[in-house]
Amino acid sequence: MVEVFEDAAVSEAAYVEEVMPSIYLPTVAKIIKVRTETEMEKVFTVRLPGGRPLGHAPGQFVMVSLPGIGEAPISVMSSPSRTHETFELCIRRVGNLTNSLHKLLPGDDIGIRGPFARGFPMDVFKKKDVIVAAGGLGLAPARSFIDEILDNRDDYGRLIVLYGARNPSEILFRDELRKWRMRDDIDLLVTVDRPDESWVGHIGVITRLFPRVEINPAKAMAVTIGPPIMYRFVTVELLGKGLSPDQIWMSFERRMKCGVGKCGHCQVNYRYSCQEGPSWTYAEALAFEEAL
Ligand SMILES: Cc1cc2nc3c(=O)[nH]c(=O)nc-3n(C[C@H](O)[C@H](O)[C@H](O)COP(=O)(O)OP(=O)(O)OC[C@H]3O[C@@H](n4cnc5c(N)ncnc54)[C@H](O)[C@@H]3O)c2cc1C
Ligand code: FES
Repeated sequence: MVEVFEDAAVSEAAYVEEVMPSIYLPTVAKIIKVRTETEMEKVFTVRLPGGRPLGHAPGQFVMVSLPGIGEAPISVMSSPSRTHETFELCIRRVGNLTNSLHKLLPGDDIGIRGPFARGFPMDVFKKKDVIVAAGGLGLAPARSFIDEILDNRDDYGRLIVLYGARNPSEILFRDELRKWRMRDDIDLLVTVDRPDESWVGHIGVITRLFPRVEINPAKAMAVTIGPPIMYRFVTVELLGKGLSPDQIWMSFERRMKCGVGKCGHCQVNYRYSCQEGPSWTYAEALAFEEAL
């Protein structure tokens, strides 16, 4: 081993960091930009040392840590097609770690492990009409998936995006939604559960949008990402449109600690969501009854 270091003229520390990083060892990454998205969410632009690529698939997550405070899984919200020297994370402030992350500024360091788990296998969606149903913060991983399709637009059929937020002030990525709305190669419908006086769009839970969408089930694939309760009702709508369980992909956010299949926190029956998930087909989910 020592000879390898001497041959390669790198120190052991550099070898471990650059050539054989431990899956348990966070890489110290730099926050480049912080944008306030809503009262609860901020978007962080993060750069790994040397601007090295993250190498993720849409739907994968990284473990984000602050020494002495904690570590949590966070989905990568930038698409592989737009993730070069930096990547983006949308973080909702809910507890110790995320409150501390919200206090960070450009130039501060954070720990990153990953990317981990199985993302959405993009090949499965190629040449298909793709329906994305995203609820709340689920629009963050969905954005990675959507931008990947938009940047390789000819590889896919129609793109239908349904997004539901609890109220207008919780709507994420407004600029992005505005740009999507102006394109003629994406059908976007947004709804809010509780409108305010300024809201002129659709009202009600995300399932209310399905009657407004024509889908050819023979060439459709769907992705749904959001709070667990949403899956139960969205899958009913998709099945009602004629899709089969293996045409419906979903992302399960189970409690995770290690992210690499060792601690058992994310176990769903006999499977670990951090390894085989968080993206599953509905057909796979039906095989383990605890999942939904
Ligand atoms: C695959 C995956 C992807 C994710 N992607 C994102 C993302 O893109 N953005 C994002 O903001 N979040 C994301 N999350 C959620 C994020 O990991 C959690 O919100 C994280 O735990 C927050 O850490 P915290 O220390 O700030 O809060 P915590 O202290 O962990 O608290 C978070 C919330 O959970 C409750 N809680 C804490 N412990 C438990 C427990 N044992 N049982 C039940 N409830 C508990 C708390 O009361 C609080 O409401 C993702 C989670 C997974 C699994
Ligand atoms: S998070 Fe530890 S086994 Fe999945």
